[in-house]
Amino acid sequence: MKNTHWWKNAVVYQIYPKSFQDSNGDGIGDLRGIISRLDYLQKLGVDIIWLNPIYESPQVDNGYDISNYQAINPTLGTMADFTALLDGLHQRGMKLVMDLVVNHTSDQHPWFLESRKSKDNPYRDFYIWRDGRAGQAPNNWGSYFSGPAWKYDSKTGQYYLHLFAPEQPDLNWENPQVRQRVFDMMNWWADKGVDGFRMDVINLISKPAGLPDGPQRADEKYANVEELVPNGPRVHEYLREMNRQVMSKHKMITVGETPNVTPADAKKYADLHNQELNMVFQFEHMNLDANPNPALTKWNDQKTSLADLRDNLTKWQVELAGQAWNALYWNNHDQPRVVSRFGDDSTEDYRVKSAKMLATMTHFMQGTPYIYEGEEIGMTNAGFTKLGDYVDLESRNAYHQLVEEQHLLDGLTMLKYLAMHSRDNARTPMQWNDQRYAGFSTHQPWEKLAGNYRQINVAQALADSNSVFYYYQKLIKLRHTLPVITDGRYALATGNDSDEQIFAYTRQDKETSLLVILNYTAQTVSRHYAVPDTAKLLISNYADDQGDTIRPYEAKVYQY
Ligand code: GLC
Ligand code: CA
Repeated sequence: MKNTHWWKNAVVYQIYPKSFQDSNGDGIGDLRGIISRLDYLQKLGVDIIWLNPIYESPQVDNGYDISNYQAINPTLGTMADFTALLDGLHQRGMKLVMDLVVNHTSDQHPWFLESRKSKDNPYRDFYIWRDGRAGQAPNNWGSYFSGPAWKYDSKTGQYYLHLFAPEQPDLNWENPQVRQRVFDMMNWWADKGVDGFRMDVINLISKPAGLPDGPQRADEKYANVEELVPNGPRVHEYLREMNRQVMSKHKMITVGETPNVTPADAKKYADLHNQELNMVFQFEHMNLDANPNPALTKWNDQKTSLADLRDNLTKWQVELAGQAWNALYWNNHDQPRVVSRFGDDSTEDYRVKSAKMLATMTHFMQGTPYIYEGEEIGMTNAGFTKLGDYVDLESRNAYHQLVEEQHLLDGLTMLKYLAMHSRDNARTPMQWNDQRYAGFSTHQPWEKLAGNYRQINVAQALADSNSVFYYYQKLIKLRHTLPVITDGRYALATGNDSDEQIFAYTRQDKETSLLVILNYTAQTVSRHYAVPDTAKLLISNYADDQGDTIRPYEAKVYQY
């Protein structure tokens, strides 16, 4: 059963359940809502659905704080709804990937409630407890969500580690019992018929030995855990153990979310011999537009240059070829919308053209493409202008820390940065039609809608044969039918190395060659690429082909 690589030509669609479709009029998306949209997903043609966490959770971090791994969050539905969803997918030939959040639990998880009771509680060692240092935290680490990574618990006079919110205590993976409980839980879901896992921050589970202080600059309140914790000393040992105990027993697909990995790291996590994971989400292309001031991390308003993007994507294509497998993505529930970030949403024409151009860029690469809900209709960033519109704790905490506490930015600048990079940009409700609440709900949604839902929505996209939707549908079909997209060799087109407007690459196997030509800009340029007379235009986002003249955001692919 192992090593079948059945997923190699599959396309994954990510659903953020709270924002996809509400079925019972409470303003929150739910499982019944997803079930009602399965025919839509089938029409798009995707093979696998990845659901963000749907487990019981106090929702401090929208479900990434889990209080029961084997129960469904009642706001989203019941276990019967879950089974109906799984069956509905399987009947349509689609598979289901669940989010696995096991770096940490909720502070309301029974393990943690026990753990904090006393130093000799049997669950004490399920988490990472330490004495303070002279009334201070055990070390100088900061959390991913601002503030310290330690919280003092007066009950037992010790601190516990939380790399994310204080309500998300980190599990102690050094404890074999923790690992066993996690593996048992995974097997329980696999036995129910779940087809795989997306593993939340899975390369953070092994912490550096001794939890040492990290380097800290004068303008930083804490040491940056992003540089200290990823890819810890025992992470590969843990993942191999997980693979032996879980993955090797089922026909599943796994993708690890792994901040701070290089291609060399990714080859260890996702080597094709499959002793750990099938692939990882790396973040290098997501960080190309980060602020040059490290104290500001992702908060910035610069657009990624084509040179940086091409170099980076090419590096991953070339270095992983034949050894490991790429996860291809532009956005997810933590990232802004691709068309607003890498494309151009300033006019309707450019929005549609640039959305298709960017889709072409990744969908012709080697790896597994992930489409984030709404990407297939070219949904844009939220366009929020007030701090009060943002609900995500990362955004709110960052504003508080950078503007009010550290005075590193003024409020208007930070609002501009939030409009570009807040996670809320991805979490506005799915835009189904131009009715009140965009067909997402009959009730005020839990998160504000993007203001443009009357123009940009599924009903409109389905009615327009030129829409972004039908372009994605075609891209997916091509991946299913043209093996060169899955297996062919990737290379930059001749002379493309330093082109500042055009990105051009080839894919090649014994029978077929593809030439992908993409204009990353709003300028019309002239470039000559030699293609045989027999070459046919496979797909394009313009109605005609003008040869060497390449128009704004034009994308075209030749096959020969
Ligand atoms: C991952 C998730 C993100 C979450 C964090 C903590 O990065 O994608 O949404 O907040 O882990 O679980
Ligand atoms: Ca609901």
